[in-house]
Amino acid sequence: MRVDVVEHPLVAARLTVLRDRGTQPPVFRAALRELSTMLIYEAARELPAVQHTVATPLTPAVGSRLATAPIVVPVLRAGLGMLEAALGLLPEARTGFVGLARDERTFQPHAYLESLPANLADYPVLLLDPMLATGGSAAHCLNLLAERGAKGMVLVCVLAAPEGVAALDAGDFDVRIVTACIDERLDDDAFIVPGLGDAGDRQFGAV
Ligand code: PRP
Repeated sequence: MRVDVVEHPLVAARLTVLRDRGTQPPVFRAALRELSTMLIYEAARELPAVQHTVATPLTPAVGSRLATAPIVVPVLRAGLGMLEAALGLLPEARTGFVGLARDERTFQPHAYLESLPANLADYPVLLLDPMLATGGSAAHCLNLLAERGAKGMVLVCVLAAPEGVAALDAGDFDVRIVTACIDERLDDDAFIVPGLGDAGDRQFGAV
């Protein structure tokens, strides 16, 4: 497992908007989309590419394109706010969905949707979820993806708690985590501190 924290002033500025409790849903959604673009740009840095030649107006030039269209997997609900950014950068990508809700008492993920290709062995896979807290939700998803043959997965998350990073490390997943920040800790409700609250509720204005 590898963890890449993206250190960039524009990333930090968008993260600050997300953290601010006064940020309303429309601005929250825009900041999440923009921050996701930057994180996914970094996440895509190691995608395999193939060379091909194009004709410029002057002469042939060797260029490149992605070798294989990736699969992006937003984790519902909160991961949906990262999907538009992913498809903007990776228009050839296909999308799988996993629906999870964390039990507020046990903190265990309850799965309510699983819509994934049967075989992921030949595809780069990017898992999108703004929050890595206990790591239970990410571990559930990474197991689903690995069962389908996915290798070298990338988890793109806005914030990670040290506890969640440690849990994925202990699970020995073949995953690279790309995040804007590793926060201090989890509180007694397994919320990331200082965090940004509930990313699902805040982007959708859920009641
Ligand atoms: C949040 C978040 C992750 C999960 C992280 O989702 O978006 O999916 O919790 O927690 P964990 O690392 O402890 O598993 P939540 O279950 O609140 O659902 P939502 O996306 O519908 O808000």
